[in-house]
Amino acid sequence: MHRPKNVELGVPRRTLTETIAVRAEHLYKAFGRRPNEIVKQLEAGKSRAEISHLGVAAVIDASFEVKKGEIFVVMGLSGSGKSTLIRMLNGLWDATSGSVTIGDTNIAGVSGAELRDVRRKSVSMVFQHFALLPHRTVIDNVAYGLEIQGMSREQRLTKARTIIHLVGLDGWADRLPSELSGGMQQRVGLGRALAADTDVLLMDEAFSALDPLIRREMQEQLVELQADLGKTIIFITHDLNEAMFLGDRIAVMRDGRIVQIGTPEEILTDPANDYVAQFVQDVDRARVLTAASVMEPGRAVVTTNGGPRAALRTMRDFQTSAAFVLNRDGSFVGIVRDQDVLKLVKAGETDLRKIILDNAVSVSPDTPLVDLVEPSVESAMAIAVVDEKKRLLGVIPRVTLLAALGNVNTNTGTLPVIEPPSTISTSVMTETLLETDSEGNDL
Ligand SMILES: Nc1ncnc2c1ncn2[C@@H]1O[C@H](COP(=O)(O)OP(=O)(O)OP(=O)(O)O)[C@@H](O)[C@H]1O
Ligand SMILES: [Mg+2]
Repeated sequence: MHRPKNVELGVPRRTLTETIAVRAEHLYKAFGRRPNEIVKQLEAGKSRAEISHLGVAAVIDASFEVKKGEIFVVMGLSGSGKSTLIRMLNGLWDATSGSVTIGDTNIAGVSGAELRDVRRKSVSMVFQHFALLPHRTVIDNVAYGLEIQGMSREQRLTKARTIIHLVGLDGWADRLPSELSGGMQQRVGLGRALAADTDVLLMDEAFSALDPLIRREMQEQLVELQADLGKTIIFITHDLNEAMFLGDRIAVMRDGRIVQIGTPEEILTDPANDYVAQFVQDVDRARVLTAASVMEPGRAVVTTNGGPRAALRTMRDFQTSAAFVLNRDGSFVGIVRDQDVLKLVKAGETDLRKIILDNAVSVSPDTPLVDLVEPSVESAMAIAVVDEKKRLLGVIPRVTLLAALGNVNTNTGTLPVIEPPSTISTSVMTETLLETDSEGNDL
């Protein structure tokens, strides 16, 4: 896709701290009779296929850091190693080689009792099919982990009640799991994980068994919960739209290896290889891509103090029918059209502000493309992208928007199509400028 080089990709949706919550370094997990031999051969450059007679290399040389408060998504086809990876993060499985650090604790060298302690205090996990205790009520299920921790009944019920509210199950505390829908049962599972009050939440296909509407609801709720509670979340999915919706960053796995780590926009607009590109081709681009990632530099930009003549010259030179107008302080005011400017110049008027169209659409750089479709269809004018001080960052003509949504190249080979072409011929503009030029200078 054609994109100006100066545009920064991947506008972060959350402001993340730089504290590292989870760190994996050169993690390997091999299944077979001699797992260490498998790792040795892989380290020596052998491929996964070449060692297959020895066993399965489920995770190969995985390294990454997850920041505190981040939602880090692990995505990949079935069998690519996602569950194996996540199980090593909470010590459920030992790594064959490499290290995992949770907070300040390297769990690789930790003994059984200590490991259980780390798991209980630092990491909790939500699975696809959460095994609820069938004969216990919702509130007792949520409070179950607290009971094991030895918290008093009164304390744990108070806490569980808060969490039941958080996950949207008010009124259901005293029901049994069998009385709940699948989505509600999954909320109980999430509630139980939240009750443990750990900093890190691991979620393995936690929403995959839910039907689409409930799934979307759960995704939205998870994002809200994250914002309220500041949890670090590692979320496994093989649903790309889910990954794109939830992830601050996404790690894509293939055959045991992490092949790319990036923000959703980076993954979408700059896939590391064909595998990732194929993976992302069906994504709902309109919800992932933002104005910032598709905008073009505004070419025909004029200022109010430059006046109508300067504006007409600029529009003639760029052969465009519309120009973006900035105030003296650089803030975006609106759009002027070539015919109006021409009339103004002919009439000898000097105030450009008289003809500025006030219906120009301006948006912030993090606006998803889906929200630009309607304004773009309603107005022939390009959409202005402005920062919080109304400074013009770029523009999005309709053609660019459509191209981005359809993932086609906007570069026609000659000139990138930016604004609608001028509606008045260049010679008419030049003549008008000449006729009205009292000082006999600059054209
Ligand atoms: N206990 C085991 N013994 C032997 N091989 C295993 C074991 N667990 C997983 N594997 C193998 O490791 C590889 C990765 O499996 P893993 O379950 O991590 O994949 P996944 O990405 O989670 O897949 P899915 O999307 O289907 O859940 C697979 O080839 C699998 O067969
Ligand atoms: Mg799995």
